[in-house]
Amino acid sequence: MNAKLHFDDWDSPVTPPAAPVATPSPVPTARAAFATTLGAATAGASLAPVNAQDKRIVNGQADVNQLAPFKYPWAWEFFLNANKNHWTPLEVSMAQDVHDYQHKLTPAERHVFENVLAYLTTSDILAMRNIGLAVMEKMSAPELQIYQARQVYEEALHTWTYQHCIETLGIDQQEIYNRYRVVPAIHGKIALANRRLERVMRSDFDLRDRDNLHEFALSYMFFAGIFEGCWFYNGFTPIFALQRRGLMKGTAEQLQYIMRDEVLHCAFGIRVVRELLKEENLTLDPVQVKQLWDEAEAAESAYAQYILREPILGYNADLHSAQFRFIANRRARQLGLAEPFPGAENVLPWLDEQANMRKEKNFFETRVTEYQSGGGLSWD
Ligand SMILES: [Fe+2]
Ligand SMILES: [Fe+2]
Repeated sequence: MNAKLHFDDWDSPVTPPAAPVATPSPVPTARAAFATTLGAATAGASLAPVNAQDKRIVNGQADVNQLAPFKYPWAWEFFLNANKNHWTPLEVSMAQDVHDYQHKLTPAERHVFENVLAYLTTSDILAMRNIGLAVMEKMSAPELQIYQARQVYEEALHTWTYQHCIETLGIDQQEIYNRYRVVPAIHGKIALANRRLERVMRSDFDLRDRDNLHEFALSYMFFAGIFEGCWFYNGFTPIFALQRRGLMKGTAEQLQYIMRDEVLHCAFGIRVVRELLKEENLTLDPVQVKQLWDEAEAAESAYAQYILREPILGYNADLHSAQFRFIANRRARQLGLAEPFPGAENVLPWLDEQANMRKEKNFFETRVTEYQSGGGLSWD
């Protein structure tokens, strides 16, 4: 198996993994696996090194403190690649953004900018908590957990980035962080995510139960494929639209770094879901999957209608919603599922360029592409 990942593009399709089908083990969480391992050691049971084939995505019993041998070497590669995209928000100049925000943005553009930021601030906290408190503890192979540990850090870094933008631009912190609770269109997306993720966030959610396992797979599919893969990916575009006109370029540059992380989060999560379904011989219920896409599309369209109640130059609500459907089809293909919105067109072809720094080298002429470890990324 060739474990090396090459990124022609940050949003490369996920290659379906080959994984053996095995029967579920009786241990529900990695925490329990750790306790069992210690118990076995002290009781004088087998002290043999871990066999890679004994590892499992969830419900595994292999020692979670032994990184190698890998059963999922691609997960380790994700971790190594993630570490090539490192920055802090302090390293991106925001000086021009302060001027743009105060003097150049129209009221409609300010409305878009602030509400996108309001949505993102809430979303990244939610993302951090979901991966850190719910998903990671259910993984029973350390190579999966170690990438997710990096992901938790990255979600916190994203929150720092938004906070840095908010502070730099002088935006009222109490108001902007509370906005998702008082604006129904923003609240709708967060409420949908909470509804989908709430149950699996419980530490006593037992994955030995097949119905729970299905719910977990569906929830993680929602989180990686829709919440990160569509809502984040597509969610930055209104600010990229401003960037393309020379406005709020510092904020947009910050979001480009975040987008690179999110593309990896999405690709990793989709791969985990696919492996999980194979390993557990599980099929997602197509009726529930379709409902998920439709709910996500309705929430995203309502959000688009609110943030773009007045179109801005080069961008409007219809474009935003159409692009959501196009990206949703891509995620579905990556997941090995039917396209939920057949015929959806790529109405914003420049969006993928935002995720592909290689193409931007001569375009944006900012320090994004020149900056430190970004140059270590593996481009073919
Ligand atoms: Fe994030
Ligand atoms: Fe993420």
